[in-house]
Amino acid sequence: MEHISREQIIRDSRHPGPEVTSRRHFLDYLLGTSAVATLGAIIYPIIRFMSPPQVIESTESSVVAAKLSEVPVNSGKIFKFGNKPGIVVRTSAGELKAFSAVCTHLECIVQYRPDTKQIWCACHNGQYNLSGKNIGGPPPRPLEEFKVNMKLNDGSRSNAMA
Ligand code: FES
Repeated sequence: MEHISREQIIRDSRHPGPEVTSRRHFLDYLLGTSAVATLGAIIYPIIRFMSPPQVIESTESSVVAAKLSEVPVNSGKIFKFGNKPGIVVRTSAGELKAFSAVCTHLECIVQYRPDTKQIWCACHNGQYNLSGKNIGGPPPRPLEEFKVNMKLNDGSRSNAMA
């Protein structure tokens, strides 16, 4: 039987053979990829939660808001403009106006009030005049105004408002 010295045992444990080394590398690789996969499974949902979803902007530049018969004098009608609502108002004088229907305060949907002849936000009693200007309540800015075109029965167009 061959005698193995103590120094040789220590040297062998520091420099294991090729079979032990490859097994150790494989285990290290397995643990490393598991750790990376675990970190990814934890971090990815956090990043997805923190980043807002991409909202696709509307590519629509014009919509048919309403037929004239649907908006009697001194009334308003909500219509869909892309992914946001708009409001078309027919004033007491018969003039057509259109605005974004999203309140500039906390984004509630506004409505037309025939009794006050104003655009009104029911959430916090925000008030806008018929130029879209914020005149009462908490809204900090005017409503975005849209251009109104009237399409006549013969297919021609006329600007109701510029
Ligand atoms: Fe319209 Fe507050 S959301 S007044």
